[in-house]
Amino acid sequence: MSALQGKIAIVTGAASGIGLACAQRFAREGAVVVGCDVQESAHWPSVVAASASSRLSILDVTDGAAQAAFAEAVVAEFGRIDILVTAAGVGDGGPVGMLDEAAWDRVIDINLKGTYLSIKAVIDTMAAQRSGSIITVASVEGLNGTEGGSVYNASKGGVILLTKNVAIDYGRLGVRSNAICPGFIETPMLRALMDPMPDFEADVTRETKLGRLGRAEEIAGAAFFLASDDASFVTGQTLVVDGGYTAGHSHGIVEMMGLV
Ligand SMILES: NC(=O)c1ccc[n+]([C@@H]2O[C@H](COP(=O)([O-])OP(=O)(O)OC[C@H]3O[C@@H](n4cnc5c(N)ncnc54)[C@H](O)[C@@H]3O)[C@@H](O)[C@H]2O)c1
Repeated sequence: MSALQGKIAIVTGAASGIGLACAQRFAREGAVVVGCDVQESAHWPSVVAASASSRLSILDVTDGAAQAAFAEAVVAEFGRIDILVTAAGVGDGGPVGMLDEAAWDRVIDINLKGTYLSIKAVIDTMAAQRSGSIITVASVEGLNGTEGGSVYNASKGGVILLTKNVAIDYGRLGVRSNAICPGFIETPMLRALMDPMPDFEADVTRETKLGRLGRAEEIAGAAFFLASDDASFVTGQTLVVDGGYTAGHSHGIVEMMGLV
C-alpha cells in the first residue's frame, strides 16, 4: 500500500514550485490532494492523473473566511483532513529604510498571517480526529539574517515560532506541527529574484556546500517524510533542507589544497 493511501492533504501555493512538487509527490503516494492558490496551473493534470479526486481551487490565503470555507468543504466531502502543507508565499525585501509599508504588509499578510489562517482553518478538525500533520514551509532565512532580507526573514522567523507553538498547544490532541526550512530552491520565485543578479546566484551556489541549487522535489521529499507515519514522533521541529548552506562558511581552503 502507498504510504499516504487514503489520506486527505491540503496544500496551499499548490500551483507552482514547492507546493506543486508536494502535491505531485503526495498524490503519487496515494493521498487525495486538495490544493489552493491564487493562480491556475498547467501542471495539475499530473496530480489528478496520480490521484483522481485531487483538485486545485483558486483561493487567496490572506482571506480567512475563504480558507475556513475551503477547509469546511474538504471535511464535508472527505470527512477529514490529515495533512496541511502551507507553501503559499512571496518574496520581497530590502533594507528597512528602503522598504515601504505596503511591501511589509503584503509579505507579512501572505507569508505569516496566511500561514496562521491556513492552520486555523484545519486545526479544530485535526484536534477532533486526534491526528494530523501540519507542515509549514519557512526558510533558512527564518533562522538567520540575510543581507536585504528584512521583512521576508521576519515573516519566516514568525512562521517557525508559530509552527512550534502549534506543536506545543496541540501535541496532546494528536496533531504534529513541523517547519521545513528550504535553502535556495530552483522555482519561479527564486528565478525572479536571481535572474537580475547573476553574482548573487554564483555566491549562493558557492555557499551551498553541495554546489548547486535545490530542486522542489527535494523539499517535497522532506514534506512527505513529515506527513508520513515514519515521522510519528517528530513535532515542533525545523527540518533544514538546504544542501549545507547553513552548515558554516567556506573560504576556498579545500580548493587551494586541491581537494575539489
Ligand atoms: N524557492 C526557494 O528558494 C525558497 C526557499 C525557502 C523558502 N521558500 C518558500 O517556499 C514557498 C513556496 O515558494 P516557491 O519557491 O515554490 O515559489 P513559487 O512562486 O513557485 O510558488 C509560490 C506559490 O504561492 C502562490 N501564492 C502567492 N501568494 C498567494 C496567496 N496570497 N494565496 C495563495 N497562494 C499564493 C503563488 O501563486 C505560487 O503559485 C514560499 O513560502 C517560499 O517563501 C522558497
